[in-house]
Amino acid sequence: MIKAVFSPTGGTRRIADAVAPSARFVDLCAPVSACTVEEALLVVLPVFAGRVPEVALERLQMLTPRPGTPAVAVVVYGNRAYEDALAELHAALSQQGYLVLAAAAFVAEHSVIRSIAAGRPNAEDKAAAAAFGRAVMERLALPAEEWQPVAVPGNPAPGERKKMPVTPQVGEACGFCGCCAAVCPVGAIPADAPDTTDASRCILCMRCVAECPTGARHLPPPMVAMMTARLNAVAAEPKAPDLFL
Ligand SMILES: Cc1cc2nc3c(=O)[nH]c(=O)nc-3n(C[C@H](O)[C@H](O)[C@H](O)COP(=O)(O)O)c2cc1C
Repeated sequence: MIKAVFSPTGGTRRIADAVAPSARFVDLCAPVSACTVEEALLVVLPVFAGRVPEVALERLQMLTPRPGTPAVAVVVYGNRAYEDALAELHAALSQQGYLVLAAAAFVAEHSVIRSIAAGRPNAEDKAAAAAFGRAVMERLALPAEEWQPVAVPGNPAPGERKKMPVTPQVGEACGFCGCCAAVCPVGAIPADAPDTTDASRCILCMRCVAECPTGARHLPPPMVAMMTARLNAVAAEPKAPDLFL
């Protein structure tokens, strides 16, 4: 099995590793070389504003299936809601020619407001993810004629994406090391000016904020306060994984 994962701050990767510990890892946070996929493909993407990141779907296009190759669609969200994300990923894989025979949504710590779902995936989440992985392997062991496409909730074609309202700010602690530029999945930070961010490219994935060794990158405090209040109102109650098999 191959696991193709887009995980700017690590929560999505933790779920992918629990589902399929020994699958071959393809990092969708970096450009992907074109290839034909002949073994089962597990795709694990984070939920951003109820969708999956467009850049991850674009990179997935490089992984062309032999027709009917099985795939598993998984989204990871910060305990608010996954809205149309799973349907969007399912539709993208199906349009590419994969047979999506299982899907799931798991919770991880909210990468913008880290107090929401803090510490998740926890041991229970990882056990559920591992059990889901075992169920998928049992399904894959059946003869291919017995594989069935799975149905998932949500709108598979949710339309226009919302533009992210801000980019991370850079404080005086910036040491111009260029770490943020090197790890940015969309090339939004110039290597020769790492104290800036190209707003037309930034997807607010929080990787530069999480990886900055001096903590110089952060979101505007009023936005953090507003989001914290909003998420405390709608995302405080822990949610359980949703499995579709
Ligand atoms: C820009 C952005 C938008 C997000 N939107 C949602 C959302 O709509 N619903 C939700 O529950 N979590 C949302 N989250 C939280 C992430 O889905 C969650 O933290 C995920 O685990 C991040 O993956 P990572 O740790 O692999 O980077 C959002 C995070 C970011 C950065």
